[in-house]
Amino acid sequence: MKVGVIGAGTMGSGIAQVAAQAGHVCFLYDSRSDAVDRASDALKAMIHKLVEKGKFTAEEGAGIIGRVKPAHDLKDLSGCGLVIEAIIEDLQVKRKLFAELEPLLSADGILATNTSSLSVTAIGAACTKPERVVGLHFFNPAPLLPLVEVVPGLATSAENRERSAALMTAWGKTPVVCKDTPGFIVNRVARPFYGESIRIYEEGIADMPTIDHAMKSVGGFKMGPFELMDLIGNDINFTVTRTVWESFFYDPRYKPSFTQQRQVEAGWLGRKTRRGYYAYDEKGQMVAGQPTTSNQQLLEGICWRVLVMLINEAADALHFGIASREDIDLAMTKGVNYPKGLLRWADEMGLGKCLSTLEGLQAEYGEDRYRPSPLLRRMVREGRAFY
Ligand SMILES: NC(=O)c1ccc[n+]([C@@H]2O[C@H](COP(=O)([O-])OP(=O)(O)OC[C@H]3O[C@@H](n4cnc5c(N)ncnc54)[C@H](O)[C@@H]3O)[C@@H](O)[C@H]2O)c1
Repeated sequence: MKVGVIGAGTMGSGIAQVAAQAGHVCFLYDSRSDAVDRASDALKAMIHKLVEKGKFTAEEGAGIIGRVKPAHDLKDLSGCGLVIEAIIEDLQVKRKLFAELEPLLSADGILATNTSSLSVTAIGAACTKPERVVGLHFFNPAPLLPLVEVVPGLATSAENRERSAALMTAWGKTPVVCKDTPGFIVNRVARPFYGESIRIYEEGIADMPTIDHAMKSVGGFKMGPFELMDLIGNDINFTVTRTVWESFFYDPRYKPSFTQQRQVEAGWLGRKTRRGYYAYDEKGQMVAGQPTTSNQQLLEGICWRVLVMLINEAADALHFGIASREDIDLAMTKGVNYPKGLLRWADEMGLGKCLSTLEGLQAEYGEDRYRPSPLLRRMVREGRAFY
């Protein structure tokens, strides 16, 4: 099957590599031809490195490089069985592209979008056959992170949803199917990792290095929330938070913070500007950032407050049928490297303890932000566990 990828930026170039590694001839198109050239050069360098490391033989490496073909015109994608779009995150631009692409596809071809925050349904509605449009949400870097969220829009056929998920499995990815709702699974469920950590900082409970230390040492997370926001970029992370909040009709649970907004306004975007929550030297090494306390009770309290908010989001996603229990847990371990699935973690900690912590926070602050998921309440009442 001939594959097409539109957009040769961060995501598109990674997705083209994944498709070529899976054996497909993959046409890569971008409205800027220099972007395709840059992506081709970067791909060559990357594959040569992987050959040196022994991940591929020289022959396999040459095959992968040879299968990624620059497309100079959208028409070069004629006859593709799958086209994955990874262009600018703008609904109208994506809709226009999908309307242009549709006639070029093979009769049973699938049109996929890698959108992080737009409605797959709204993109599909630009096509005469929206049943062939699906979200395939890869994570950055696409060749390394196994998770792909498969997102059927309202009109996507069950057959195309299943074919897309099966293809991702064949590509060596871990597909999870989720409803077309803001943030899908990962970008919705992960919000408190950032938001609640910032809130703890804003309340003066602890400084940023201490909060990062708590999440790593107590929770076993690979990176602390402030380190991670600096890596992702405060501009990108803030935009995701704001988009999820707006898309949920301003649900206070997702409300963005002034702290992060000021970082963005100052141009303190993180590692890429060598200044974010932390400072970085020319080599990208963090300059400061030592925790100021070793008070174990404080560290545990910080970690537990963030964790219980994450668990509440995961429970609510399950409550609203966004995805299955297994897929919610898989999404967080495979997409953002959480040490454990949140619903499994909830069982281990005890659902009663999760609920009473949330109720305590809600009583203390009087904010809807802390409202426990109805599913959590029901399960505690009925003495059930997620697994
Ligand atoms: N960067 C991430 O971490 C990430 C993760 C998952 C999903 N996404 C999503 O993937 C998509 C691409 O993100 P990115 O980070 O790779 O962006 P990027 O800016 O790195 O690349 C986008 C590319 O699309 C090209 N482009 C823009 N408009 C086009 C058009 N009309 N036709 C053809 N090419 C066009 C640009 O020239 C650019 O090369 C977005 O929808 C984004 O939300 C991004």
